[in-house]
Amino acid sequence: MEVVIAPAQELAVLAAEAIEALLRRRPQAVLGLATGSSPSQVYDELARRHAEGGLSFARARGFMLDEYVGLAADHPERYRNVIAADIAERVDWPADQVQGPDGLASDLSAACAAYERAIADAGGVDLQLLGIGTDGHIAFNEPGSSLASRTRIKTLTTQTRVDNARFFDGDVEQVPTHCLTQGLGTIMEARHLVLLATGRHKAEAVHQLVEGPVSALWPATVMQFHPHATVLVDEAAASRLQLASYYRQTYDSKPAWQGL
Ligand code: GLP
Repeated sequence: MEVVIAPAQELAVLAAEAIEALLRRRPQAVLGLATGSSPSQVYDELARRHAEGGLSFARARGFMLDEYVGLAADHPERYRNVIAADIAERVDWPADQVQGPDGLASDLSAACAAYERAIADAGGVDLQLLGIGTDGHIAFNEPGSSLASRTRIKTLTTQTRVDNARFFDGDVEQVPTHCLTQGLGTIMEARHLVLLATGRHKAEAVHQLVEGPVSALWPATVMQFHPHATVLVDEAAASRLQLASYYRQTYDSKPAWQGL
């Protein structure tokens, strides 16, 4: 696992550079998209590179990590709408090439199975962007999730609903109780995982992710088994890392041409 400690804006540039390099190499690449505040500067940087540098998403495919169950089709916090506003509509990405699990399906289990098939039919995800919850969840795989789980319905923890209430006028009652999420096993099949975390409130989750024992209690720890995982953190999110100076030394001595 590679750990990079830098200011948030630099982290966003690094992630955007990795995505741009992938799209220039493979215009039909499959990108895994995360919602939440962590990737928003990455999306800003990608939109800038589209406008100023001609970076194109016209042939790319996008798969979202997760979706709330039951939010109305036009609800601004429905993740499909969030991703459209944050990135897809800011670049040349045809709407039908970006998909998420269908949280409004009448048969949610069938929707999850269909989503797994769609990802497999696209050839799997090349680069998956990730954030991390304060309780160590990735996508919406809450503590206790099977490390081998596939796309399924999950109950959100009270902690996650409280954390996400800021997107719902600060009212936790408006935050849905359930979601559909790619499983940890699904996420682990992506060829490159790029996780962003900023702020002191993420420090314990980041410490567990990178240095803790692999455990369903901290679902992100499953990433320790991934052969190509990159963890991008600011000073505050890195503040509990025991081996921070080693990660800095390793990254500082890396050849600039190598990329993430
Ligand atoms: C949400 C999302 C996750 C996200 C996490 C952290 O609940 N389902 O995909 O990574 O919480 O969010 P943020 O980046 O806003 O802190």
